[in-house]
Amino acid sequence: MIKLKTRQDLIKEYIEFFKSKHHKHIPSSSLIPENDPTVLFTTAGMHPLVPYLTGQKHPLGKLLVSVQKCIRTQDIEEVGDTTHHTFFEMLGNWSLGDYFKEDAIKFSFKFLTEILNIPRERLAVSCFAGDSDAPKDTESEKIWLSLGIPKERIAFLPKKNNWWGPAGNTGPCGPDTEMFYWKSKTKPPRRFDAEDENWVEIWNDVFMQYNKDKSGKYFSLSQQNVDTGMGVERTLAVLNGLEDNYQTSIFQPIIKEIELLSNKKYGKNEEETRAMRIIADHIRAATFILGDERGIKPSNLGQGYVLRRLIRRAIRYARILSIPSPFASKIVKTILPIFPDYQELHRNHKFITQQLDEEEMRFNQTLEKGLKKFEEISEDLKTIIPGKEAFLLFQSYGFPIEMTQELAEEKGLKVDLEEYNQEFQKHQDLSRTASSGMFKSGLADNSEATRMLHTATHLLNEALRRILSKEVKQKGSNITQERLRFDFNFPRKLTSDEIKSIEDYVNEKIKSALAITRSEIPLKDALSSGAQAEFGAKYPELVSVYTIEDPSDKKGWFSREICTGPHVSNTSELGNFKIIKEEASAAGIRRIKAVVE
Ligand code: ALA
Repeated sequence: MIKLKTRQDLIKEYIEFFKSKHHKHIPSSSLIPENDPTVLFTTAGMHPLVPYLTGQKHPLGKLLVSVQKCIRTQDIEEVGDTTHHTFFEMLGNWSLGDYFKEDAIKFSFKFLTEILNIPRERLAVSCFAGDSDAPKDTESEKIWLSLGIPKERIAFLPKKNNWWGPAGNTGPCGPDTEMFYWKSKTKPPRRFDAEDENWVEIWNDVFMQYNKDKSGKYFSLSQQNVDTGMGVERTLAVLNGLEDNYQTSIFQPIIKEIELLSNKKYGKNEEETRAMRIIADHIRAATFILGDERGIKPSNLGQGYVLRRLIRRAIRYARILSIPSPFASKIVKTILPIFPDYQELHRNHKFITQQLDEEEMRFNQTLEKGLKKFEEISEDLKTIIPGKEAFLLFQSYGFPIEMTQELAEEKGLKVDLEEYNQEFQKHQDLSRTASSGMFKSGLADNSEATRMLHTATHLLNEALRRILSKEVKQKGSNITQERLRFDFNFPRKLTSDEIKSIEDYVNEKIKSALAITRSEIPLKDALSSGAQAEFGAKYPELVSVYTIEDPSDKKGWFSREICTGPHVSNTSELGNFKIIKEEASAAGIRRIKAVVE
């Protein structure tokens, strides 16, 4: 049915199609955003176009098309499954105050059905359901209906699904309409259910007509724009009938090389396959960061720190696969031919391999000793790795804190981040780094954002127990500056009503302005006072307990947990709590991702 096989085919067809519709082809911008000190990397095709979406004239006119290299690191720990990547390419077309919904949707539909030859029976779409910031998008619905998409295949979803942007905290954004492809070999159902994993989102048309300001309010932009995004890796996988992005021609040469180097077979063993994907993804991302014209090198600062984390994480997984060192530059040789169109990679080939070799050598000198040290440190510990020890691993053995956290997690331990940060702050030249505010996805921190999400996690934990079942227990938690991630036992998918009730409940507690107190008490007193402890975790005799006080509760408090923090001192410091994803994490375990806005 679908003849597409390669990345080049897909990109060429996309660019040619939009050129035939009078769009000008703009080259991919640098991975490092220009004039934007608040973000480390370009995360979407629209990122370099922000000034033009807000009214500045683009030298090539109002209609543009591109394929943009992007880096998103907020889900780095999820890399290793079949779909997550830190580096990816995004196809996009833009109208800067020219055409709006009708042409955008018609172009998308024509490209999908006439160029990619996707049968319309395999397509479904979602539109914005409307709220107090913007109305229900019935205009897009009408256009889809006029193109023959049946009503049952159009879902109206709220802001968390059908609104995109701003890319940072403020800027252009708007409602969107998303297109889904039925990937299963089975006959697509008549009715579209966005929760069914066989419906894969392949394209997003954003109607950027609002600007979000610092206070969180939305104002109309002076022009109505269209911003679209189609991920190359995912689209190519589904079009080729593959469940795994790493089986596409974009990744296969890299995976083959890793098989050769490790003398192991991809797909044979789950853990080894995961390690192979992590190596492929991270070395590919590192190659693109090093290959960018900015000359970023591994360091403890900004983009250099993310680069270091990626390379060192890949090295650790290569060690697990018994790959002899040096290996990274060998993998680069297989990456370059996949991307003949990024001249900079080829120009900077030598720099890329040199830097990788050097970083690999540097880390090899301390990795073995550091791992031994980690074993020594963690041997007698039951729950918490002191921050001082984590700092020692960072300073003397070059372990990025996230790596120590990952190693700790594998042993059911946690790192005392608060203490780690105190140690870090003491270190003069590094403290400047920590306070620069650029570590959206870099250094661990005890920033305001993280404190808020820690507290939100406690509220969520208790809300789940009160709304779903008393049996709910925390099975894992991971917090970045952008979001919380929480795993818990529950036998099935949550309904949208349950998700809404949980959000409302948490928000009610935020509005109630509840105080948070900390005490240090013996473990058995903590447990007998009703404090939640993580199942299976072993605790020291004396533990730190955080209580969210609540005079309206019959116990006098809402939540009590054994925890190392950090937390805010009152729930009123939190913004609006929102669940952005609910999914399976393992058998009988659900995973929620949420934000406070
Ligand atoms: N900027 C939109 C996205 O990244 C198109 O999905």
